[in-house]
Parts: sequence; C-alpha cells; structure tokens
Amino acid sequence: MSLSDFTLIGKDDLYEHVYLLYSGSKLNNDLGYYPSKADKFVIPIGELDIEIEQSKSGVYAMHETGTTGFYLWKVSPLFAEWMLYHKHPLSDMFNGCGVVVELGSGVAGILASTLSTRCEVFLATDQRHLLKLLAKNIGSNRQPKSNIKIVEFDWENIELGVSNLEATLEKRQVDFVLAFDTIYNSFLLDHFIAATKTLCNSETIVVVGIQLRDEDVLLEFLQKMLDNSFQCYHVDQEWLSPGLKNGYGIYCFKLCS
Ligand SMILES: C[S@@+](CC[C@H](N)C(=O)[O-])C[C@H]1O[C@@H](n2cnc3c(N)ncnc32)[C@H](O)[C@@H]1O
Repeated sequence: MSLSDFTLIGKDDLYEHVYLLYSGSKLNNDLGYYPSKADKFVIPIGELDIEIEQSKSGVYAMHETGTTGFYLWKVSPLFAEWMLYHKHPLSDMFNGCGVVVELGSGVAGILASTLSTRCEVFLATDQRHLLKLLAKNIGSNRQPKSNIKIVEFDWENIELGVSNLEATLEKRQVDFVLAFDTIYNSFLLDHFIAATKTLCNSETIVVVGIQLRDEDVLLEFLQKMLDNSFQCYHVDQEWLSPGLKNGYGIYCFKLCS
C-alpha cells in the first residue's frame, strides 16, 4: 500500500475537488474544539483513556493570537483512532517508521500520546506558551518507554524552530510531519508551508487533517502546497472511519522529486 492508493489532486482538479468535498459532506456547525465544562476530562480512543487538561484561563489571559492551542480539537482524536484501529495505506506506512514531527500539537498532545507507540521518535511542537501544559498532558498519558520530545517551533520564527529541532534530531531525517487543525487562517498559510518545507526531503510524508470550515482557506492552502512543489493526495471517504467521513479532510503531501 502506498500514497498512490489515494487520489492525486493536480492544479486543474482543485476547484472541482473542493466543491465536491464540501457539497458531499455533512459539515459540523460547531467550531471544532471540545467544549468541556471542566478543564480536565478523559477522551476514550479505542482501548485507551487519554486524560486531557485544557486551559480556559490560558485562553482568557491571551487577548491576541495564539489561543487555539489551549483546547483539544476534534479531528485529532478521530485521526488517532483511525490510525490505531483501522487498516489502510497510511497506517501501513506509518507503523514502525522513524521520526515523526507534529506541528501545532496544542496542549493536549493527543497524537504524541497515542501514535508515538508506532514510531521511533515523536516530536511534539508548538509555540512556547503552550509547551508547559503540553508536557503535563503527555506526562499524564506516558507510555512505559517514552520516545516523545517536546520542542518549541513557531512557524513565524522558522530559524529558531529548525535549530531547536536539529538539536533534538541529531541529523536524523523526518519520515512524517503531522498537522491537525492547523489550516483555518489565511494569514498562517505561508508560514505553515515554509515551516513544513524545512522538515521535508523527497521521502517525507506530510499528513494534514482539517475540519471543513471556510472552503476558500482550504482552496488557497492546496493551491499554495502545489505551488511549493508538493504533490497532493486526498484520502478518499472509502478509507476513512465513520467519525472522519463527514466534516473532515485528510491530505497527504510529498515533495516532487
Ligand atoms: C486549532 S489548534 C489545533 C491544536 C491541535 N493540533 C489539536 O488538534 O488539538 C491550532 C494549533 O496551531 C498552532 N499554531 C498556530 N499558529 C502557530 C505558529 N505560528 N507556530 C506554531 N504553531 C502555531 C496553535 O498554537 C495550535 O496549537
């Protein structure tokens, strides 16, 4: 199984692809975060119970940008469940891989806590103000042998992020870049894509999970990824779990060699 099991989207197919995706999906009307009354709660993912602490006070304390990471967003646990408990080309390629870098992990660190059992090293990254609670959550859900590292990587300060990652990676190549619910704002697209590109060689697979909200932002994102020499594959509905089928999109990208 390989990426070619998914649908390759070229520049000429973009508009039709996005139109069909939105018209064929039942969109969620909510914003997409877990609106838990308590700051602490448990998310069941298959047999795993993942304990999460969010920070509403963190959201209220920060009046400018950078507050979305204080919450857990719904596409992440759905993706974790799909990767752990379903057989498909992506789980096939991911299981047993080497280095995984997640961009925009948020405070919950749910992908680190669940998918790190399937790779050698998992680097969870985000902006500095989120890392303390991210470390606490990953600590609460720690696997017996922890291979998770937490690294500051702000896409608007790529030089510092790359140097932080290089210090941790010690020349190892990145096999997978994961980014979930990081595509929601036009302003961030160029920064996000530039950050992603610095991590990739021709073998790296970038997996981006989105909640379907503003179709113009998705269209712009896909267009920019193609302009940046990424091949774009859409994971068709037939592969997805029931939870991911409506209102979400999973894309895989690889640099053209
Ligand atoms: C909607 S949240 C998703 C968080 C997490 N992936 C999840 O699914 O729960 C978007 C994430 O992107 C991160 N983000 C936004 N701008 C960023 C930037 N310039 N550099 C690094 N991360 C950023 C936020 O801090 C936040 O964690």
